[in-house]
Amino acid sequence: MTDIRNLVILTGAGISAESGVATFRGPGGLWEGHRVERICTPQALADDPALVHRFYDARRAALATVEPNIAHHALARLDAAWPGDLLVVTQNVDNLHERAGSGRLLHMHGELRSALCAICEHRTPHDGDLPPGAACPACGAHALRPDIVFFGEMPYQMDRIEAALATADLFVSIGTSGAVYPAAGFVQRATHYGAATLELNLEHSAGSGLFDETRLGPASTLVPEWINTLLSNRQTA
Ligand code: APR
Repeated sequence: MTDIRNLVILTGAGISAESGVATFRGPGGLWEGHRVERICTPQALADDPALVHRFYDARRAALATVEPNIAHHALARLDAAWPGDLLVVTQNVDNLHERAGSGRLLHMHGELRSALCAICEHRTPHDGDLPPGAACPACGAHALRPDIVFFGEMPYQMDRIEAALATADLFVSIGTSGAVYPAAGFVQRATHYGAATLELNLEHSAGSGLFDETRLGPASTLVPEWINTLLSNRQTA
């Protein structure tokens, strides 16, 4: 593999699975029992704000019961050691990457521990329950909502992600089913820009055929293995 300087790493629910955070489409996944269109859409928020707020309150509360796992810690170690550009783009709304120590991190689908004002778009760090109609500390409007990108809404910081993909030497996807765009299309963007692409996942995903290489197994095994090799190759380069 040519000299690797700039990394873009996409993570999905699979990296948090071994921390006990349910994935979305696996057995017992988050959406089971909760019809997606009932929960994560602007219409659901308008039709039944109490249900949507309750769903995210429960997920926010569950953060206190889980810890970052080996894969999160390995990525944080890479973040600290890597001299080139590195960006972890996570689809996850949990805070496990931060708690493991990752600094160069972007939440493209939002964060459970943040509240967004539907009027002025001010973001407020938020723990605990978020009642519908809570007042925005910036503009006073009673319009705080979960700071989560709902289906049909545009993910955050897409320009920054595209810019990182445009200069990436290696794009790595960890623990995602490749079922949801635009994240599922990042491998094709990376390839278009000339990056090498690697998938680390428990099973084949919808995008597996698009990667230069796919390794199957749990993130807690594959991620540290990949990072150890990457860092040792760099030292000998
Ligand atoms: N290690 C690695 N991969 C794993 C593990 C594990 N221990 N456990 C599960 N996986 C893999 C599964 O095989 C699956 O391919 O993680 C992937 C999880 O896929 P999804 O549940 O679809 O989650 P994700 O890809 O993150 O969903 C993307 O969809 O519903 C929306 O906004 C939501 O961000 C989410 C997006």
